[in-house]
Amino acid sequence: MMVTIEVNGRQLTVKQNLSVLQACLENDIYIPNLCFMEDMPHPPASCRLCFVEVAGMQRPVTSCTVKVAPAMVVKTDTPAVRRLQRSGLRFLLSVHHVDCQNCPANKNCELQRLARFLKIGLKPKHLENHLQDIAIVENHAYLTYYPNRCVLCAKCIHACRMSHGHSLISFVGRGFNTSLSFAGICDFEQTACNTCRSCADICPVGALVLKTACER
Ligand code: SF4
Ligand code: SF4
Ligand code: FES
Repeated sequence: MMVTIEVNGRQLTVKQNLSVLQACLENDIYIPNLCFMEDMPHPPASCRLCFVEVAGMQRPVTSCTVKVAPAMVVKTDTPAVRRLQRSGLRFLLSVHHVDCQNCPANKNCELQRLARFLKIGLKPKHLENHLQDIAIVENHAYLTYYPNRCVLCAKCIHACRMSHGHSLISFVGRGFNTSLSFAGICDFEQTACNTCRSCADICPVGALVLKTACER
């Protein structure tokens, strides 16, 4: 079944089971997002970037977690929405080692795109920096993980699960100490990683990198 919603004054007729984010993206209305994936049944809503205003709701909501409904009225570009998106991005940058010249994602990086879209620098002035010195993870045969570039979007975990039926990588730790772990992957599974690469391909930044790419 289809429903009609209004977004920024435009009428959109979309499938009723879509999230507001999907409905907008499918109709070329861009909403900043980092952790959304088309086929993820339960979006983690962890990046806190995809805010929109919905008439009748007191506060902006994350558009990846709200389903479209008949006659819904949505605004994607209000000052309140942009304020929240900028502070979400500033938070991500406050725990990010910005060193684009030495990063394989340079010029193909979602953080760079988001910063351009939201008109903030990658190293904003007066930014409180919470970056910790976390060691690069090298204990995988084919992958290198850079925790200080990871935005914890979970796309790699989901992509791995889609490729292998279960995920060979997982998050460990909590809050500021969360990072990815390859613990528990046996040699046979690591060998499978050599031809899979879905996690490194889906990573929106330069956090999960094929070792061959690092050596280039
Ligand atoms: S992940 Fe993106 S923003 Fe971070 S260093 Fe690499 S290119 Fe720069
Ligand atoms: S390694 Fe990349 S894809 Fe995985 S959680 Fe971090 S940023 Fe997301
Ligand atoms: S895309 Fe909605 S919170 Fe990340």
